[in-house]
Amino acid sequence: MATSMGSGARWLTVVLAASGLLPAAQAQYYKIGTPAEIRESARTLAYDLMLFYKGNQSGEIPGILPGPPTEHKGDYYWWEGGAMMGTYIDYWHLTGDDSYNAVVTQGMLHQTGPNHDYMPPNHTASLGNDDQGFWGMSAMLAAENKFPDPPEDKAQWLALAQGVFNTQAHPDRHDGTCNGGLRWQVPPTNMGYNYKNTIANACLFNLGARLARYTLNETYAKWADKQWDWMYGVGYIDAADYRVYDGAHVEANCTDLNKAQFSYNAALLLHGSAFMYNYTDGAEPWKSRIEKLIEGMKRDFFPDGIAYELPCEGRHGACTADMLSFKGYVHRWLSVVTQIAPFTRELILPMLRTSAEAAVKQCTGGASGRQCGFYWSEGVFVDPAVDKTSGAGEAMSVLAAVSSLLIDEADPPVTNLTGGTSRGDANAGSRSRDGPEPLAAITTGDRAGAAILTILLLGSSVGAWAWMSLGD
Ligand SMILES: *[C@@H]1O[C@H](CO)[C@@H](O)[C@H](O)[C@H]1NC(C)=O
Ligand SMILES: *[C@@H]1O[C@H](CO)[C@@H](O)[C@H](O)[C@H]1NC(C)=O
Ligand SMILES: *[C@@H]1O[C@H](CO)[C@@H](O)[C@H](O)[C@H]1NC(C)=O
Ligand SMILES: *[C@@H]1O[C@H](CO)[C@@H](O)[C@H](O)[C@H]1NC(C)=O
Ligand SMILES: *[C@@H]1O[C@H](CO)[C@@H](O)[C@H](O)[C@H]1NC(C)=O
Ligand SMILES: *[C@@H]1O[C@H](CO)[C@@H](O)[C@H](O)[C@H]1NC(C)=O
Repeated sequence: MATSMGSGARWLTVVLAASGLLPAAQAQYYKIGTPAEIRESARTLAYDLMLFYKGNQSGEIPGILPGPPTEHKGDYYWWEGGAMMGTYIDYWHLTGDDSYNAVVTQGMLHQTGPNHDYMPPNHTASLGNDDQGFWGMSAMLAAENKFPDPPEDKAQWLALAQGVFNTQAHPDRHDGTCNGGLRWQVPPTNMGYNYKNTIANACLFNLGARLARYTLNETYAKWADKQWDWMYGVGYIDAADYRVYDGAHVEANCTDLNKAQFSYNAALLLHGSAFMYNYTDGAEPWKSRIEKLIEGMKRDFFPDGIAYELPCEGRHGACTADMLSFKGYVHRWLSVVTQIAPFTRELILPMLRTSAEAAVKQCTGGASGRQCGFYWSEGVFVDPAVDKTSGAGEAMSVLAAVSSLLIDEADPPVTNLTGGTSRGDANAGSRSRDGPEPLAAITTGDRAGAAILTILLLGSSVGAWAWMSLGD
């Protein structure tokens, strides 16, 4: 600290700084005091994040970040490319900078799969409902943000979201174990097929709520209700305090709760609840659900007003590449909640601001002197190498936190009646069927679900038991 330095040390600092010998890591690079500063910072963050993406270079695959790790191709699973596309769809919406729109459109359309439901053959053998769900939610976002519609002869944003919804609402993906609910994995041969988790079910909940609001078709709202009721009924949403847990196994009728609380589970439920609240003109029970979820988010994921990944952030190296990206979704989703459930503004916006300030404060690393890490509350840059990643999730989260500060200047998500132009297809996705996969396809593949790795770092007996039975 400067105040505790002797004058000699201070003099040395001045000399070293002047001669360029001090690492640039000393100075805060990003300013976010004014909308102009936020826009400028977001522009640089978006540029730096794009450096991780190779999908538009020749010989590379559009839409995905380098990966998957299971094939030693990079740190990132398939779903995170979809999440990154969504981050840029919001970036454009919030800042007006369309520099990356072409890259995003190319990536979003490349990964749709032949039936336009985000089940591309390269990834169906290892498909989780949550993986598919993240791509579907980015397509839904494109419709809501009025992201430029694809050419007429290509799949359209709304129809893509409906394609994902329809494949997930299809009876093929539902069974009587645990009274209902989606399984984590789609192919029965996959590890994790016996796990029913919150993120998979929250994605379908979220898509249902948003499709209901966008199209005013009540069928989608019924599904959102059904998904909520199931998650609540089985105790994944704790009735006592709205803690949101990770999931449980069908062999135990979903009573063996893995109580890890990941921020994106609670945030995704909150975001979907806000869409239901808006769709039902501010009615209960959604208002109370929103209030309780916000209270839980503040308590568990924003200690000191700074985003914190509860199950793993306490120890360097404990969060997986997936988990390192969750803070960004939390910021993006919570900011949209303030638009469609405006009564939440005062509860949410101050917290997103203090959190974003902490986020940029630690972006002082790397050769650029502005690389971002994950440990926002620590106040100093920690190299993503401690978590064995190159840092794309970390960069994406800070971009999301910063650009979401512009939420008050941005239009709320549109609907078909308030300016939406995306063409839908109520029957989208009906050509895909979840036939049994070849037995050889057992894989730990492209999963967004955090459960497996979570469990490795939970000392609890629940975790250990869950880990053993996941491998069954
Ligand atoms: C890929 O996209 C980026 C960002 O728009 C752009 O700067 C770059 O030139 C593109 N690369 C190729 C090979 O098209
Ligand atoms: C599927 O994977 C192969 C091998 O990596 C790749 O060449 C191809 O472009 C991928 N297809 C799609 C549609 O992404
Ligand atoms: C959206 O509105 C347009 C024109 O108002 C209508 O033709 C179309 O059927 C609507 N789409 C949905 C999904 O409701
Ligand atoms: C399984 O749990 C549900 C509640 O989630 C309960 O209604 C059902 O009776 C249970 N089934 C068995 C076989 O215990
Ligand atoms: C629903 O969202 C719109 C923004 O699209 C907002 O103006 C309106 O107040 C919201 N409705 C309720 C009940 O909060
Ligand atoms: C509403 O959505 C359901 C589910 O996709 C679909 O079967 C039905 O045709 C839709 N209704 C209308 C009026 O579009």
